Amino acid sequence: AVPVLKKQLSLFVSLTVGNSHFIFQLKQDNVVEDISATRGIINFKVNRKLLAQKLLEPFGNGEDDKFGLNSELFNTLTTGTTLVEYSSPNIAKKFHAGHLRSTIIGNFIANLKQSLGNDVIRMNYLGDWGMQFGLLGAGFGQFGSPEKLKQNPLQHLFEVNVVFVLYSNVFFPVFFSFALQVYVRVNKEAENNEDMKQAARDFFRQLEQHESHAVSLWQQFRDITVKEYRHIYERLGVHFDVYSGESFHQDQAQEVVQQLQSRGLLKTSEKGTGVVDLSPNRDVTNVCTVLRSDGTTLYITRDIAAAINRKEKYSFDEMIYVTDKSQENHFSQLFQILLAMGHSWADGCRHVSFGLVQGMKTRTGEVVFLEDVLDEARARMLNNMSKSKTTKELENPEDTAEKVGISALIIQDFKGPLQSDYKFDWDQMLQAQGDTGVFLQYTHARLCRQDICVEAVAFDPSLLSEQTCTAILQHLLRYDEVLYQSAQDLQPKHLVNFLLKLCHLIASAHRDLPVKGSPEAVAQARLRLFSGACSVLANGMRILGITPVNKM
Ligand code: ARG
Repeated sequence: AVPVLKKQLSLFVSLTVGNSHFIFQLKQDNVVEDISATRGIINFKVNRKLLAQKLLEPFGNGEDDKFGLNSELFNTLTTGTTLVEYSSPNIAKKFHAGHLRSTIIGNFIANLKQSLGNDVIRMNYLGDWGMQFGLLGAGFGQFGSPEKLKQNPLQHLFEVNVVFVLYSNVFFPVFFSFALQVYVRVNKEAENNEDMKQAARDFFRQLEQHESHAVSLWQQFRDITVKEYRHIYERLGVHFDVYSGESFHQDQAQEVVQQLQSRGLLKTSEKGTGVVDLSPNRDVTNVCTVLRSDGTTLYITRDIAAAINRKEKYSFDEMIYVTDKSQENHFSQLFQILLAMGHSWADGCRHVSFGLVQGMKTRTGEVVFLEDVLDEARARMLNNMSKSKTTKELENPEDTAEKVGISALIIQDFKGPLQSDYKFDWDQMLQAQGDTGVFLQYTHARLCRQDICVEAVAFDPSLLSEQTCTAILQHLLRYDEVLYQSAQDLQPKHLVNFLLKLCHLIASAHRDLPVKGSPEAVAQARLRLFSGACSVLANGMRILGITPVNKM
């Protein structure tokens, strides 16, 4: 571009693209107050006073939480009802790192959709059915005690669980010495115990046939475990509208098999299992097993039934599943089968997948249960905080340490693309100065200390013309765009990086724009800027699933 002529409020620029030449006229108005050009560069000067005034207006009107949410950008996103299914741990097994990731990612997606005005249904789909209950039930029959289950349900279930795991040959971390003793004792007894294996099969059959003894035991196991999960969710600040589970769709799964049959989609394999052929040329090169040879259904069959049932019950406009990437093929098959069955709404289903967390360790050992991670995050944070004098003023330092510790976990998890695996690193994630959740909380708490007046005190926007002010204002202006990006690809990193950058800008502002000692009007204007930045920071943190602390 080459400047040609500057005349009154317009600038004429000539532009050459290939062999074509254009002359165009750029007009100043009250938003762009000046336009200038040198060869190859056009400068637009934004009216800083207007920028400050427009942008900071909502923060004096008690509309802090609506900031950035009425953007036209959002018009292309799916509106209506969004069902988000997340966390979905397995009953009577411990919650692991993958479930933690699913929990915080799903919570973020649900929060985001909700802020954008969708009706959101938060669903937990428990792994509460399957052969593992045969093993657990049989284990309980042999080693369990109804009294102990009443007195100390979790501990006892855990002991039996160790037994159960032994039978299913899954490695299970054993932390408690009592459990270790049971494990060792049972290990000796149970090796090659065919009777026990048979007992497991029998118990599961009784369960499938709804025999009351089996069902009531299963119900107890489920209730106990859900109670424990609820406690973890409360600590994480996560909740669910619906606790569903695989068990709910046991009978419907059989109906699904019928429907597949009547639509001609079900084939019998050489092994006698029921399969759906998903290969493009129908040459059975890509099949999905939906029925075992003994007539029982599988994980995917229950998922097909569950999806259809949810559509009928909640008539969602979109449904989002959050699990680790090992289940990518599962969900792709699920959506393909639903479409083949004529459920075109399956186009509105998405699977958000995430990578592995490597090296999650506590001081006590290699593999950990989620509660231990939360406890350690709190303890480490409390220790770091004890070095600062403001900690002594806190009413409940444990509670603050818990919230800050959890923000550290969340930011570490959300910084990169969800698909990537990452290395769990306590020291890095808890740094107060780096790009961490602690830094976000620290910035928020420091802003709160400034006594930001949220009332509609008039302020003079022309007093916010410093470069540091403009940088913050321009950054805040991008908030809607960042939410839009996150809503499109369902990745929290856009919002995380936006908030971290905001905190760096705020740190410069604390240095360059003192409030104390400035003339009243200047102080007032700066406070308004800080108050706006603080609100956007808090809003963004809440969407990520972080509870901002006012003091730390
Ligand atoms: N319970 C499963 C697991 O822990 C996750 C369930 C995911 N959701 C689903 N609809 N299949 O691996």
